[in-house]
Amino acid sequence: MINYEKTKHQLKGEIKNITCRDGYCRITIEAPAICHVATPGQFVMVKASEEKSNDPLFRRPFSIHQVADGWLTIIFKIVGRGTKKLAKMKAAEMLDVIGPLGKGFHIANGQRHYLVGGGVGIAPLHFLAESIYRYNPESEIVALLGARTAKELDAFAHINSLNFMQVAISTDDGTAGHHGLVIDLLERSVTEKGLGPVYCCGPWPMMKAIAMYCSNKKMACQVSLETIMACGVGACLGCAVSGSEVIGDGYLHVCKDGPVFEAEKIWL
Ligand SMILES: Cc1cc2nc3c(=O)[nH]c(=O)nc-3n(C[C@H](O)[C@H](O)[C@H](O)COP(=O)(O)OP(=O)(O)OC[C@H]3O[C@@H](n4cnc5c(N)ncnc54)[C@H](O)[C@@H]3O)c2cc1C
Ligand code: FES
Repeated sequence: MINYEKTKHQLKGEIKNITCRDGYCRITIEAPAICHVATPGQFVMVKASEEKSNDPLFRRPFSIHQVADGWLTIIFKIVGRGTKKLAKMKAAEMLDVIGPLGKGFHIANGQRHYLVGGGVGIAPLHFLAESIYRYNPESEIVALLGARTAKELDAFAHINSLNFMQVAISTDDGTAGHHGLVIDLLERSVTEKGLGPVYCCGPWPMMKAIAMYCSNKKMACQVSLETIMACGVGACLGCAVSGSEVIGDGYLHVCKDGPVFEAEKIWL
């Protein structure tokens, strides 16, 4: 029996809203206990099986996209068994979640913050942007969002309405925004605006490239890692990644030590 820390909650939250389009779903559930203690970059483990079923056996991890007045929102891409089942849920049904889990982003001091997201890695950046704005409304917040095609960005289109933040987008195929990689946007923004801490979530190669760029520029960089997870609380050791040899951290557990790490702990 897993003993969750006092700040973690397992609850059944009523689904207020679920919408699915083009392979992405957005679910909002009532979860005030989680919302009150959550910090950006943390995640929840969601039971994807029906009430009396254990298929799939393990819960699935999803970043907290937004918390507002006790309502918690996640956005996910339909990729396999668990997410296919979740996509079939309906408003007013109960969703079984555990959270908030892991260590989230540390909001750095600074007058400019770069939030860099790729694909579903954009999901935690909404909560992060709102938290930075609350913490330091005077600071400049720049979101740089990349995806393979314009369609993949549709699930996150509402981020454009955060009027305290500048948003630039890139797509691999040129169907929206800059035709190229999100790192191009970061290089361009840093040249035009100046240095600032970077918060990054997306595919591993993208995060590694961003981490290397930040290291060269001496900019602080935090990365949010994704691994396959079974327990989400440090009990199964299934999410271990090797830490950077320079720092000598040995193995790190993404669910408990992360998912957010200083980039130098992983790669440099
Ligand atoms: C901390 C954390 C936060 C996450 N946040 C989000 C989020 O906000 N939105 C979102 O869409 N996804 C997110 N993910 C990924 C998400 O957990 C997986 O896509 C999901 O568990 C897949 O479940 P499934 O049963 O549909 O797929 P499965 O049937 O289990 O697998 C289908 C395919 O997806 C691959 N896969 C499964 N889990 C992962 C994973 N964690 N990373 C990469 N590939 C995987 C499998 O190898 C397989 O090829 C997050 C993962 C972590 C660890
Ligand atoms: S998922 Fe079990 S230890 Fe991290």
